[in-house]
Amino acid sequence: MSLYSRILGTGSCLPPRRLTNADMVSLLAQRGIETNDEWIVERTGIRARHFVDEGVFSSDLGAQAARQALLAAGMAAEQIDLIIVATSTPDMVFPSTAAIVQHKLGIAGCPAFDVQAVCSGFVYALTVADAMIRAGNARKALVIGSEVFSRLLDFNDRTTCVLFGDGAGAVVLGASDTPGILASDLHADGQHVGILCVPGHVNGGQIMGDPVLKMDGQAVFKLAVGVLEQAAKAVLAKAGKTEADIDWLIPHQANIRIMAGTARKLKLPMDKVVVTVDQHGNTSAASIPLALDHAVRAGQIRPGQTLMLEGVGGGFTWGAVLLNF
Ligand code: UT7
Repeated sequence: MSLYSRILGTGSCLPPRRLTNADMVSLLAQRGIETNDEWIVERTGIRARHFVDEGVFSSDLGAQAARQALLAAGMAAEQIDLIIVATSTPDMVFPSTAAIVQHKLGIAGCPAFDVQAVCSGFVYALTVADAMIRAGNARKALVIGSEVFSRLLDFNDRTTCVLFGDGAGAVVLGASDTPGILASDLHADGQHVGILCVPGHVNGGQIMGDPVLKMDGQAVFKLAVGVLEQAAKAVLAKAGKTEADIDWLIPHQANIRIMAGTARKLKLPMDKVVVTVDQHGNTSAASIPLALDHAVRAGQIRPGQTLMLEGVGGGFTWGAVLLNF
């Protein structure tokens, strides 16, 4: 049994259709709704996002990100013995997107399941995979965040539809005698269900309730800034580290103002924060592994560095993972 787990490779996938803020202005204008590039950039930092085409699902993006992560790790899919997909936009009500990804990777037999913690999904999934590896239940896990949030958007609601995008990120997490994942800190508080949700559900062959994303942006914003600071400090304390040990902060990519606020509270300069929200928008559970992979491929994140991953979102859920890359 190994004492630790560590990331062996990263990958990501963005659907090719890219919409700039100018494209969103035109799209919304067709519905008689006004928005503008200045508002979106100033309030969120977002300049572009990617949307899938019809017939493309979370499992497609997730499988592609997984193939890249396997390649980066120098591994074949057959070596994987656990698949966890973090998603709030599964292909189907059931079975899990993870089972579909497994089949698309051409393998069978290993456990595969989804984790549903909305934008905190990836830090939840990484924590579960780490625990399973340390318990001796797996040795090589694929941990994937994959979303098609464009399918949940109400294009008549300018306060939400300009914020989100589609994409996937993945890591191969392997058993290791050296750390790896140093500590995790996860939380949920269900009293805030209503501030960020898709209230619809399937009943008797029909969709009951509204199946589009609803968000009280200001309530989410206020909660997010507070809990992200708490989770960051808690995970550092658990690992016996301080803010000065962090080489890179990889926060959930929802809003540059939330990310800058968190960095300020941790006394980290913005050049230690991985930022992809400008190009990807908010891709929910995919945002952290997507940002991680982009920073790795850009040569920013290097082996041996200490990374803090932080997620926050619907539930309300939040959490952080500290790791040696
Ligand atoms: O992924 C989970 C985590 N999610 C988040 O972290 C999201 C957190 N929340 C936020 O990022 C921000 O609250 C938003 C970006 C969603 C909104 O920013 P805000 O500064 O809180 O704006 P607001 O909701 O207070 O709206 C300010 C104004 C309103 O106009 P009035 O009422 O002041 O006249 C809105 O109608 O901005 C208007 N507005 C827009 N204007 C142009 C809202 N959306 C738009 C838009 N284009 N797309």
